[in-house]
Amino acid sequence: MKLLEILAICGSTRAASSNLHLIHAISELYKSKLTIRLLEGLTAIPHFNPDLDNDLPPEAVVDFRHQLMMADGVLICTPEYAMGVPGTLKNAIDWTVSSMEFSRKPTALITASSLGEKGHASLLETLKVIEADISEDTQLVVSHVKTKVKADTIIDSSTLEEVNKVMDAFIEKINQKFN
Ligand SMILES: Cc1cc2nc3c(=O)[nH]c(=O)nc-3n(C[C@H](O)[C@H](O)[C@H](O)COP(=O)(O)O)c2cc1C
Repeated sequence: MKLLEILAICGSTRAASSNLHLIHAISELYKSKLTIRLLEGLTAIPHFNPDLDNDLPPEAVVDFRHQLMMADGVLICTPEYAMGVPGTLKNAIDWTVSSMEFSRKPTALITASSLGEKGHASLLETLKVIEADISEDTQLVVSHVKTKVKADTIIDSSTLEEVNKVMDAFIEKINQKFN
């Protein structure tokens, strides 16, 4: 059976990021069903500028858009910063508003943070307006993440259960799209 190709976007650029640990944990848990490739070059994407959003956008933007286009689905794992979406992540997404790579793209969003509700709600609004295919069962807030995810392992059993539910719904959503 062909593995589904998932592009994972980590909203944290920290080396020891809990969100990165979470992506690694999910990759391991779902390795028989998914190939999860981590988006690289997030920080190389320049500040969004509509003047540059033309027929010849910056190379890092072309690459980002291409990676999104090629993926069967997109998994975003991100912290909340100052009650909102981390600027690096929001900046990258702003580059897709005109090009619409997220439109009808099966998307899962996990906000893993100390709290997370406000950043999560804000990002959901953004994903809605760019027409990402995201639903109630493919999104999750994991609060107090540092007590729940450690060293690429989800150590809290109810969080593991919730993450599994989100990922199973995400896989079903992708399969429905292709069948
Ligand atoms: C600049 C900054 C702002 C933050 N603001 C919030 C916040 O508003 N809400 C929240 O839940 N956590 C906030 N945090 C804490 C992060 O949720 C926490 O550090 C989390 O582990 C970061 O994710 P990461 O481990 O993937 O880097 C903030 C952290 C930083 C560095």
